[in-house]
Amino acid sequence: MLRSSWYNTLGVKDQKNSPGKMGLSVLLWWLGGVVAVLAVLIVGFGIVYRRIAGVSSSKTSMKGKTVIITGASAGIGMEAARDMARRGARVILACRNLTKAAGVAADIQTSTGNSDVVVRELDTSSLASVRAFAANVLATESRLDVLVLNAGIGGLDERQLTSDGLEMTMATNHFGHFLLGNLLLGLLKKCSPSRIVVTSSDSHGHISDFNPKNLNFEKGGFGPYRSYCQSKLCNVLFARHLSHLLADTGVVVNSHCPGLVATEIFQKSGGFLVGKLFRFLALFMSKTVEQGAQTIIHLATAPETATISGKFFMDCKVSQVESTYGRDNALAKIVWEESEQIVGLKPEEKHY
Ligand SMILES: NC(=O)c1ccc[n+]([C@@H]2O[C@H](COP(=O)([O-])OP(=O)(O)OC[C@H]3O[C@@H](n4cnc5c(N)ncnc54)[C@H](OP(=O)(O)O)[C@@H]3O)[C@@H](O)[C@H]2O)c1
Ligand SMILES: *[C@@H]1O[C@H](CO)[C@@H](O)[C@H](O)[C@H]1NC(C)=O
Repeated sequence: MLRSSWYNTLGVKDQKNSPGKMGLSVLLWWLGGVVAVLAVLIVGFGIVYRRIAGVSSSKTSMKGKTVIITGASAGIGMEAARDMARRGARVILACRNLTKAAGVAADIQTSTGNSDVVVRELDTSSLASVRAFAANVLATESRLDVLVLNAGIGGLDERQLTSDGLEMTMATNHFGHFLLGNLLLGLLKKCSPSRIVVTSSDSHGHISDFNPKNLNFEKGGFGPYRSYCQSKLCNVLFARHLSHLLADTGVVVNSHCPGLVATEIFQKSGGFLVGKLFRFLALFMSKTVEQGAQTIIHLATAPETATISGKFFMDCKVSQVESTYGRDNALAKIVWEESEQIVGLKPEEKHY
């Protein structure tokens, strides 16, 4: 009974003699059903995911404090900057696109009533730009309380080299931040207690056969998603090793994953399969950008994170580092030493 009415609605009741066509129609209905169920699951996931997203409980005022945020012209960095401004901090948006960043600064000033929001030029993919930015900060700022290393790109189709000969994703996400963190360390120590927050990703755990002697993929092995995951693993290892170097200095450093957030990063990434799939699914399954910024805010301001260092956070809580690489102190040291060589860190640039 049910079956025949099914066929009626399909308009195939007269095709008794054509089992092939009938089979196809049934298959299409089944496929439609599967797609519908998947859609419900995906949308449902998004709803639950946003419900359970971690929110910082921090009420700390940031008046009198200076915060630098790299990649504050969009996404998670922009919303973290807005929150810092709302708390009264002097906020320095460290950005590569000055036109775009000026618009964001004006918007943050208007929405928070804090006029102490400024833009400084920084292209994390260029070592010269990082050195110029740091020199400017050291010459003009009297203090630095929080440094948020957040700028990032999501992986490129091809292995592209920067003007320094570094692989572009690694340079943007890791090497530039490695150098910047080092150059500003003296000022952070002078202003301790102070904090460094590194935006990584739980995709740091998706990397296998990691070779710290091939950080720029000069010996091959480049892949768009691979370069991204490797750069995020380097973010975790950077924070881990730096926390050891900074023991007892009053400067804490932690890395975190903001979770899945539908930001511009997916539009700006390569067209590889994972990226395309992510780009589409992220629209339904992601946190809001404000939610994505919560762990930065928590690490930058909360009293309960003031003395935690060398950890990896998700949803405003300490989280288990997913990969064995990410928990490996010896590996963290090797990557640190390789990075020092690669960025050409000079003796006078070492402040640890
Ligand atoms: N969205 C997610 O689901 C997700 C998940 C895990 C981790 N993350 C991490 O979160 C961080 C922020 O990403 P988002 O999602 O907020 O992406 P986004 O909206 O694309 O923002 C990225 C920011 O980084 C800046 N940036 C990129 N390359 C730069 C360079 N060479 N020099 C200076 N700034 C540069 C961008 O500047 P422009 O505005 O000029 O492009 C932008 O301000 C990244 O480190 C990313 O890896 C994101
Ligand atoms: C910089 O930002 C402006 C405003 O958002 C945009 O129109 C322009 O294309 C951007 N420039 C680059 C080089 O991305």
